[in-house]
Amino acid sequence: MSLRIGHTVDRPGAVTITVDGTPVSAHPGESVAAALFAAGRRRLRESPRAGAPRGMFCLMGACQECVVIVGGRRVPACQTPVSEGLAVTTGVPW
Ligand code: FES
Repeated sequence: MSLRIGHTVDRPGAVTITVDGTPVSAHPGESVAAALFAAGRRRLRESPRAGAPRGMFCLMGACQECVVIVGGRRVPACQTPVSEGLAVTTGVPW
């Protein structure tokens, strides 16, 4: 079932992606980063030296802080659209 927000946004019905093997509800057209944020996932990996938590920062593909594995490739979560059955792995070493 789609969701209309105001007069400008018509959000499609939910699909399910998996994040580290856990099902997460998402909507086609949104980024993996948006789906992770909505699911309460803020920490995506650790910094290589200090082990500090890293997550979404610029949300425009510039900082690479949101890198995850999708389809065996390192991709920025903020630039990767969700689709049904997409498998996302976090904790990518830098
Ligand atoms: S948050 Fe900066 S590249 Fe995704």
